[in-house]
Amino acid sequence: MDQDIAQILITEEQIQSRIRELGEELTREYAGKNPVIVGVLKGVVIFYADMVRQIKVPCQMDFMWLSSYQGTSSTGGMVVKRDVTVDIQGRHVLILEDIYDTGNSLDFTYRHLLSKNPASLKICTLLDKPERRKPGITLKPDYVGFTVPNAFVVGYGLDYNEQYRNLPYVGILKSDVYEK
Ligand code: IMP
Ligand code: MG
Repeated sequence: MDQDIAQILITEEQIQSRIRELGEELTREYAGKNPVIVGVLKGVVIFYADMVRQIKVPCQMDFMWLSSYQGTSSTGGMVVKRDVTVDIQGRHVLILEDIYDTGNSLDFTYRHLLSKNPASLKICTLLDKPERRKPGITLKPDYVGFTVPNAFVVGYGLDYNEQYRNLPYVGILKSDVYEK
């Protein structure tokens, strides 16, 4: 796998150190609030597992799974393939995501969960790729791990064709891998 990576963008050590910093902020933010921490599958799994262990307050865990809707919709909408099972009405909810790219998926997730009337709803994304944001998407993540340049990245949960999720770092894939 490593031989397919052109450049390591964020090392394992940098990721873990940033997660500890975010953990301190989130621990303060959610003290006494028993938050529901919602992960968006599948890209978030590795970040989720590390992040929740640094949020040192009682909490509940839940997951959503989206799929993009192919069909007559030219904009390529999203559908909920697996919804949260915890009743989040009146609860403090934190969304964890792998990457905020065009913004379609987080924007959809945010509005979907907001419609369930949580007491509060915040977003923590490991990566933010602001150059790719679709015009009209104005949502601002409350917590960002790292801002990344406009390149396709893999590792630490992020995939290319379902591969490379188990790399411990975030890297840029070599362009000849796409062409194979
Ligand atoms: P969106 O474009 O912000 O809706 O991102 C949708 C999803 O695409 C993200 O949650 C990721 O799972 C995936 N994605 C976006 N950019 C990348 C990337 O650079 N590498 C791997 N997956 C990505
Ligand atoms: Mg994702």
